[in-house]
Amino acid sequence: MRDPTRVAVLISGRGSNMKALVEQANGYEVVLVASNNPLAPGLAWARERAIPTWTWDSRGVEKSVWETALGQSLEDHGIGTIALAGFMRILSPEFTGQWSGRILNIHPSLLPKYRGLDTHNRAIEAGDTSSGCSVHVVTDELDAGDVLAQAEVPIVPGETAATLEARVLEAEHRLYPIALSDFVRP
Ligand code: GRF
Repeated sequence: MRDPTRVAVLISGRGSNMKALVEQANGYEVVLVASNNPLAPGLAWARERAIPTWTWDSRGVEKSVWETALGQSLEDHGIGTIALAGFMRILSPEFTGQWSGRILNIHPSLLPKYRGLDTHNRAIEAGDTSSGCSVHVVTDELDAGDVLAQAEVPIVPGETAATLEARVLEAEHRLYPIALSDFVRP
């Protein structure tokens, strides 16, 4: 039986949600930060804090080969829960099947609205009066698994994708650690 409180966070870049998950950990521990991008700034931040990291540049690598290597590292670290945080690679159905119900993601919209990319522009262009973020279970369908928690952020007059993104990101940093704590609680 895997211990759900042992968390791996998967990132591809900045890693601000990963930092929030580390700094606000409650009832879980981030024991591995993994990335498909060896230059992801979040990796350096994790290393400075002596959090184990794993990385392999996924470009040009067959997805199944890359995922098998990742899976071995997850196994080695006794991971029970995977938290995707700005991880920009779609996991294969084989991988999500092996980890069924144990992978979470944070998405910058009020799902089921605006799956995929460019969520803030799409919300503004649609004339929505609010947007937000969602923590959901990862399945083999993109951004479509059960929603566990959401935070709403108003869209104000004169809003741009950049201003909305900044306020939604703040909401993400509050929401994700709480949702992950709730998820791993026995
Ligand atoms: C966040 O907006 C997250 O919702 C989305 O990608 C962005 C990642 O940012 N999935 P960061 O790397 O956590 O700073």
